Amino acid sequence: MNILVTGAAGFISSQLSYKLYKEGHNVSLLDNFSYGYEDNLIFDDKTFTDEIYRKDIRDSEFLDNLFKEKKFDIVYHFAGITPLPDCQNNPALAVDVNVRGTVILLELVRKYGVKKFIFASTSAVYENNNDFPSVENKVEKPSLIYPSTKYTAEQFCKAFYDAYNIPITIFRFANVYGPHIDCLRTQPPVMGYIIRELFNNRSPVLHSTGNQERDFIYVSDLIDLAILVLKNDRYDIVNVSTGKTITINKITEIIKEKMKKTNIDTKYADVSHYWVNYPELYEEPYPINNKLMEHEVLKYTCLSNEHAFKNYGWKPKVSIEEGIQKTVDFSVKVLSNTLK
Ligand SMILES: NC(=O)c1ccc[n+]([C@@H]2O[C@H](COP(=O)([O-])OP(=O)(O)OC[C@H]3O[C@@H](n4cnc5c(N)ncnc54)[C@H](O)[C@@H]3O)[C@@H](O)[C@H]2O)c1
Repeated sequence: MNILVTGAAGFISSQLSYKLYKEGHNVSLLDNFSYGYEDNLIFDDKTFTDEIYRKDIRDSEFLDNLFKEKKFDIVYHFAGITPLPDCQNNPALAVDVNVRGTVILLELVRKYGVKKFIFASTSAVYENNNDFPSVENKVEKPSLIYPSTKYTAEQFCKAFYDAYNIPITIFRFANVYGPHIDCLRTQPPVMGYIIRELFNNRSPVLHSTGNQERDFIYVSDLIDLAILVLKNDRYDIVNVSTGKTITINKITEIIKEKMKKTNIDTKYADVSHYWVNYPELYEEPYPINNKLMEHEVLKYTCLSNEHAFKNYGWKPKVSIEEGIQKTVDFSVKVLSNTLK
C-alpha cells in the first residue's frame, strides 16, 4: 500500500515507518524536523529511506501535489507539537500545527480518496476526568493547551467522518516509552529526563513526592495496534495503554538499577517549579495557575484498553522491566554519541 507518515523523524513515527517499510509498504515520510532527528531514521546501522520530505504539514500546496502524485491509501498523522510547556508557551502555534495542520490533511484525504486516516491523540485529553480507568466515550474537556488542541483536532476528525464517511481511527496514547524516546529536548518525557540526568551523574529532580501514578505503554506494542486498526473501515477512538499504573519513584528506581546508578539520589522539588525552564509562563500579570500545575503533576493516569482488546484482539506484551531495559540501552548509546 502507499502510506504517508507525518512526523516521521519523531520518536514513535520513525519506528512505525520502519515497521511499515519492512512489511513491504511504499512509505512516504514527512517531517519539518522541528523536533525530529535524522538519527531516528537509522535502523540496523543504516538509514532505511532516501526519501524524506522535509516539509511542514501546513504546506498545503506541496501536500496537494504529493497526494495527487502518490495516491496514498493510508495516512498516519502523528506529526505535532507535543511538549506541554511548548504548547502552553506558544498556543497560537500549537493550534496552527495540531489543529489546522490536521484539518489540512483531512481535507486532502477527502479530496484524493485516501482509504483511511489514523490520528495520534493523547491520554492528556482525560486530564480532568475523575473516573478510572478512563474510557473512550467519556472525556471531561481539558484545560491545558496541548490536550485542548488534540481534543479539538479529534472533533474535526469526527466532523469529517460525519460529513464524508471517511474511515478514521483516533488513538489516545498513554505515556509512550521505548528506544528513540527524546532525552535531549528542553523538557523531555519523564523517562528520557531521568535517563539523561543519571547518564550525566546528576540527581533526577522529581516534582512533588514522586508517588504520582501513570500508565506507560511500550512503543512496539503501540505500533502493533497501529497496524491492526487498518482492518477497520469505520470511525473509532482507541485508547493505547496497559491499563496498569506505576509511580514515577518506581520508574526512577528501575532506571537506576538498569543503569547501575543506584548510588545517585533522587531530589524532590515543589510543583510550582515544574516548568522552570519556561520562565515566561510565570510572568506577571497572569502567571500560570498553580492549581492547574499541581493538577497536571499529581494527576493519576490509567486508561482502559478493553476496547482495543475486544475490537482488535490487542493486548500489550512488553513488561515495564523489559521495556525500560531497552529504553535505557538505546538512550545511553544516543547520549554517548551526543557527548562525543
Ligand atoms: N510520546 C508520547 O508519550 C505521546 C503520548 C500521547 C500522544 N502522543 C502523540 O503521538 C504523536 C507522536 O509523538 P512523539 O512522541 O513521537 O513526538 P515527537 O515530537 O518525537 O514527534 C513528532 C514529530 O512531528 C514533527 N513535526 C512537528 N510539527 C510539524 C509540522 N508542522 N510539520 C511536519 N512535522 C512536524 C516533529 O519534528 C517530530 O519529528 C504526536 O502527535 C503526539 O502528540 C505522544
